[in-house]
Amino acid sequence: MLRKALALLPLIRRNIEEPETRKVLAYMSTPTSATIKIGFRNGPKVSVTRTTLITVLHLFDLNKKLRVIGEKEIIELSEFCLGLDLKLRSALGLEYTNFSAGGRFGVKEAFLYMLVRKYRPNRLIETGVAQGVSSSVILKAITVNGEGHLTSIDLPTYSRAGRMNADGVLDRAHVDPSLGPGWVVPKDLRTNWSLILGDSKEKLKELGGDIDFFFHDSEHSYSHMMLEYEWALGHMRSGVICSDDISWNRAFMDFRKNHGLKEIEWAKDLDFGAVSVENY
Ligand SMILES: C[S@@+](CC[C@H](N)C(=O)[O-])C[C@H]1O[C@@H](n2cnc3c(N)ncnc32)[C@H](O)[C@@H]1O
Repeated sequence: MLRKALALLPLIRRNIEEPETRKVLAYMSTPTSATIKIGFRNGPKVSVTRTTLITVLHLFDLNKKLRVIGEKEIIELSEFCLGLDLKLRSALGLEYTNFSAGGRFGVKEAFLYMLVRKYRPNRLIETGVAQGVSSSVILKAITVNGEGHLTSIDLPTYSRAGRMNADGVLDRAHVDPSLGPGWVVPKDLRTNWSLILGDSKEKLKELGGDIDFFFHDSEHSYSHMMLEYEWALGHMRSGVICSDDISWNRAFMDFRKNHGLKEIEWAKDLDFGAVSVENY
């Protein structure tokens, strides 16, 4: 797998311009392990799995814009994420591939990784864990940085039907009780991790001190998102506040506007928001 991914990178670099990468990614939105053959304009034909191609394209595309990590690290991250995908697929099967369980590797996770690599935060908080994909990606970045501690808060949803949020919108994310929240996080990454179970509305209040990275991915209702963002800003002098699923309502846009916070442009095309906080 590693050799195939490595062989792909120079071909992609030489042959695919960014708008084309985007077209390919949009077309192949569902990762599967099926093998496909791709022919490059100036190169040979290569057989790879769709999952490998999508992962490598995502990382290539992002890194071209962000220039945070080198190609060797792209490959290492691809390998790491493909490993997570395999674990998820073998434990959850179709349910996972239908994306209803919450958490899979994609461009947002690559972005999250690069944010942590770029800003090198020390005290990171995440709300919403489910299987633990975002936790794994953040912890991987912390490990490569050589500094930082992640505290994750999760109120597990054990029902396969999901949970209705305060705005009356159903969130289907859930975790199998026999696996437990964060089960996919590799054992060797857990030394820099604390997992707190409970409602983030209550649990955040119990955390004191300054943080420099906050990631929201718990209950996506307007009031809950706003409460978490405000908590993060109240505990941050400088750092990053980011959020998944910002299209569910206007909370992230209102929060950013209310405080005049600078958007980190990279996230524009994703359903993912990120602002930088400087000397607040
Ligand atoms: C979308 S999933 C998280 C996915 C994860 N961040 C990832 O990318 O791998 C949302 C998680 O938040 C949990 N959750 C929902 N409401 C919550 C709350 N009030 N406090 C903490 N966690 C909550 C859900 O049970 C679920 O485990």
